[in-house]
Amino acid sequence: MNIKARDFKKIVILTGAGISAESGISTFRDANGLWENHKVQEVATPEAYARDPQLVWKFYSMRRIQAAKALPNPAHRALINFAANAGSEIHLITQNVDVLHERADITGKLPPLCMHGSLNQSRCTHCETVYLDDHAYFDLDGNYAPSRTELCSAEERTRDEYLHHYKLEYAHFLPLSPCCKAPLRPHIVWFGEIPFFMAKIEKRLRECDLFVSIGTSGQVYPAAGFLQVAKSHNARTVCINKEAIPQSHMIDVFLEGKAAEIVPDFFA
Ligand code: APR
Repeated sequence: MNIKARDFKKIVILTGAGISAESGISTFRDANGLWENHKVQEVATPEAYARDPQLVWKFYSMRRIQAAKALPNPAHRALINFAANAGSEIHLITQNVDVLHERADITGKLPPLCMHGSLNQSRCTHCETVYLDDHAYFDLDGNYAPSRTELCSAEERTRDEYLHHYKLEYAHFLPLSPCCKAPLRPHIVWFGEIPFFMAKIEKRLRECDLFVSIGTSGQVYPAAGFLQVAKSHNARTVCINKEAIPQSHMIDVFLEGKAAEIVPDFFA
């Protein structure tokens, strides 16, 4: 079946770590799920933050530094070009927290729903206010050394919620929120937490005529169930990935290979 994205009116795109692979961001699974001998599940949980918030901030500081060094690749850019020029309605949902979709999109044509949060945001643990925050609080050696990573765009830096507008206070080397002087945490959905925007996502999945999944292993729910929801509401389904995924029986067209090569062609 030779179909292209431009043949459809309402498109939902779901992206995962594979779309950023060619930008040099390794996935948890590539690294055998380990970070400095900690299982990622042991640093990316509410329990880990309660037990050792400094360790968790070290991990996310490292991820902010790495993400800031990466650049969007042709797959990120192709989605933006398509959104800017196509007559279709397009919704982008990403499980990625790396901010590369946003950094590819200087005109803001395709704002992603970041269902797992975002590395350029932090949240007050008391009142849940979300701040734009591109600090790395610890350097790559794990030393306390707050610095900016430039993960926020020039436009974001002008907004009130940009953390650098406030005088930051710290307690025990941990940043405190300007609103409540309570500890800040990364605005990331950790294992065991509920992803953001689920009601909006469900609605879009029910209404789309094309669902495209790109660079996601189909192992982590609820995103792993989106194909089924779209398919059961009569959408055509396309999967672009380097390897087969468990939901293969629900895929109409499987395009096997690297996202940076296939996405620009499918979304031409
Ligand atoms: N092009 C296309 N696909 C690729 C590429 C590439 N260049 N490189 C890797 N892939 C594929 C892999 O084969 C794999 O199937 O991308 C998929 C990435 O899978 P995961 O690492 O499991 O990433 P993802 O599906 O996004 O994980 C979901 O799990 O780790 C948690 O919260 C984290 O958001 C993440 C979620």
